[in-house]
Amino acid sequence: MNLMQDIIARAKSDKQRIVLPEGTEKRTLFAADRLIADEVANLILVGNPSEIKSLSNQYNLPHIKNATIIDPVNHEKKTEYAELLAGLRKSKGMTIKEAENIVENPLYLGCLMIKNGDADGEIAGAQNTTGDVLRPALQIIKTAPGISVVSGAFLMFIQDKSYGKDGILVFADCAVMPNPNAKELAEIAVATARTTQAIVGVEPKVAMLSFSTKGSAQHALADKVIEATRIAKELAPDLLIDGELQADAALVPSVGTSKAPGSPVAGKANVLVFPNLECGNIAYKLVQRLGNAEAIGPVLQGMAAPVNDLSRGCSVEDIYKMVAICANQAMKK
Ligand code: ACO
Repeated sequence: MNLMQDIIARAKSDKQRIVLPEGTEKRTLFAADRLIADEVANLILVGNPSEIKSLSNQYNLPHIKNATIIDPVNHEKKTEYAELLAGLRKSKGMTIKEAENIVENPLYLGCLMIKNGDADGEIAGAQNTTGDVLRPALQIIKTAPGISVVSGAFLMFIQDKSYGKDGILVFADCAVMPNPNAKELAEIAVATARTTQAIVGVEPKVAMLSFSTKGSAQHALADKVIEATRIAKELAPDLLIDGELQADAALVPSVGTSKAPGSPVAGKANVLVFPNLECGNIAYKLVQRLGNAEAIGPVLQGMAAPVNDLSRGCSVEDIYKMVAICANQAMKK
């Protein structure tokens, strides 16, 4: 079995309740129909029930009738969720009147369902921007205990199987934190290593990337990565983490040996941690497009419950896989 088949099989073995706030979006409906037919998760679609019914008839999606459908404007827990939201955002000055309006937004509703124990995870972003998907999750679900930073990892399935674990590498942060400081970057590294252990099931070898390898360049930006490496090792002494490394020193055995002799990571990294979001986001898209790699994610890490974002260019297949990954994360909780 390959990794994705393993993830789907695990999801089927303990079905989680996954909420899809974009319940009238075409690719979401096609993915939902297949997920229900394959019994990967118990799906909750948010949207106008008659619109969902008519779309599923139009697209010939017979399994959608087995999803739970929640009308964001009119459902039995609307007042309960508004009170929950107003309570959570009281210190920010939110009134119950404001909360009553906000709970009609499916992206807020999905997070409130999770917070209230009515769902186990959420996937959105086929229609909405990353910021709009993340903001309610950060405000309502918040970070897991002991973690201060949410970040986004991509599972990269590279054509050349000599890299990473049979061609699988994990890249982060590619989605959330525009400019992490050293402490935040260290937390991102540790969270990405944990995601790698949990989802890919291999020992992470974490490269903290820079334009410098072991002091080859002197610059404040390289210093940030050196400091992040030091903090990450302190936070997780059990993990193999090394930096600062250039990408070739991290990935290519001969370059790793010559530029960073004795490193437990150089030349064999399977986790690449980028110094900021510009690098991470650009890098994953270049590897995906120019290197023909499959990119699955972002898998959000550090949240108290799993909420995952899609790219607006996502396919039906991407949504299907992200629901299975989200279900795996929910099971781990
Ligand atoms: N980790 C944990 N908490 C966070 C984080 C984070 N990384 N970022 C923000 N927060 C918290 C804040 O503390 C705040 O909490 P509070 O309201 O309870 O005090 C809350 O989240 C909202 O924070 P704001 O700063 O008000 O929200 P902002 O509008 O800055 O949004 C966001 C945060 C959405 C993550 C923003 O940083 C962002 O847009 N990041 C880039 C996302 C993006 O565009 N990615 C690239 C595309 S993704 C792709 O290509 C797949």
